[in-house]
Amino acid sequence: MGKTYIADLADHVGKEVILNGWVYNKRSSGKIWFLILRDGTGYTQGVVAQENVPNEVFDLEPALTQESSVSMAGLVKKDKRSIGGYELDVSNIKVHQIAEEYPITKKEHGTAFLMDNRHLWLRSRKQNAVLKVRAETVRAIRDYFDSNGFVNLDTPIFTANACEGTTTLFETEYFGQKAFLAQSGQLYNEANIMSFGKVYCFGPTFRAEKSKTRRHLTEFWMVEPEIAYCDLDENMGWGEGLICHIAEWALNNCQEQLEVLERDTSQLEKIKSPFPRISYTEAVDILNTKGEKFEWGGDFGGGDETVISEHFDGPVIVHRFPAAIKAFYMKRDPENEKLALGMDILAPEGYGEVIGGGEREHDHDTLVKRINEHKLPEDAFQWYLDLRKYGTVPHSGFGLGVERTVSWICGITHLREAIPFPRMIYRLEP
Ligand code: 4AD
Ligand code: MG
Repeated sequence: MGKTYIADLADHVGKEVILNGWVYNKRSSGKIWFLILRDGTGYTQGVVAQENVPNEVFDLEPALTQESSVSMAGLVKKDKRSIGGYELDVSNIKVHQIAEEYPITKKEHGTAFLMDNRHLWLRSRKQNAVLKVRAETVRAIRDYFDSNGFVNLDTPIFTANACEGTTTLFETEYFGQKAFLAQSGQLYNEANIMSFGKVYCFGPTFRAEKSKTRRHLTEFWMVEPEIAYCDLDENMGWGEGLICHIAEWALNNCQEQLEVLERDTSQLEKIKSPFPRISYTEAVDILNTKGEKFEWGGDFGGGDETVISEHFDGPVIVHRFPAAIKAFYMKRDPENEKLALGMDILAPEGYGEVIGGGEREHDHDTLVKRINEHKLPEDAFQWYLDLRKYGTVPHSGFGLGVERTVSWICGITHLREAIPFPRMIYRLEP
């Protein structure tokens, strides 16, 4: 009789196994009672009959509280009616700890209460499903880049460079020197491609986002590919391919979780390339035809992105933004100096921007000019400018936010549930 996981019960029908887990629920009907156990890989029911177990085991029922840790031994049987399709004829139960009264019950709780108890809330069925989808999304992302010839090279978290503007920098002291937590790994990716051609970095990034929205965390995970000899069009193709791969991966590998989340999977089945590509100016026209009174030159807010994406039946790519609202490193459109060769991919169903990126300025003198226009310290960018002195090439890349992507795949409203321990303006604990 060996240690087994609920997910593997199919391989053990007719055999005795031991399952280690936590009490999810129980039901009693006189001479028989049922223990619903969860072990992280699934849920299953143990049938505890008086004649099959020692008396002290049968008598455990009233004492077993939700979340008590137990090992349950028994014979595996196939049973379609049972949760997970199998059940155990229990022969023994070993209690590791009787849990205190669990604060999270089946009744509705407020968000603040659940977030304060995030360390316990993680165990709930829905949260478990969302975070499993997160893990699968990460696998899909890695699979996409690894199988397309990208080299994974991670970039530092302590940095002296502001990449995405100076307003959202987290500053810290670094042995007497001023340092920032990385907002993006992009600048380092740009060095790495000159050695490897196609690279990606994947890690946590930090932004002092002072607004409370359902789309912003202060610590979020981003995957950032960067490609040498790549223009804006090719870059959009890589982004589109990634999103299709993630949606398909979720449909193939997260069926159970998407069911728990009651996700309308037909929305994900529709995700197919090519995505419509529209310019910023066309997007502004869409907003204005829908009565939004949006002025050319402004940045889209979450509400604007929702209105734009509702015009399409799937993701949409918006490109060529006003240069004035974009980062210093973006290349200008040779056909119109006012425009930057940036692109955002908006997820459908109102999930907004999941990808942001574009073509980079690769001319040394133009870049120096931009650094100064943006009032960035030229000194800190000497190494970055070097890249334009030693064999500079046209290049592009983008960043995809993991939590926004996971929220969309799961169909959940707030991205704080798409990461185990979210960091937001008023949330550093747990
Ligand atoms: O558009 P962003 O700011 O682009 C960059 O950082 C580029 N340097 C990436 C690159 O080209 N290598 O951020 C990229 C993506 C957004 O589309 C969004 O999905 C996510 O990162 N993101 C956030 N997610 C959660 N909370 C925040 N505060 C986020 N800010 C950006
Ligand atoms: Mg962006």
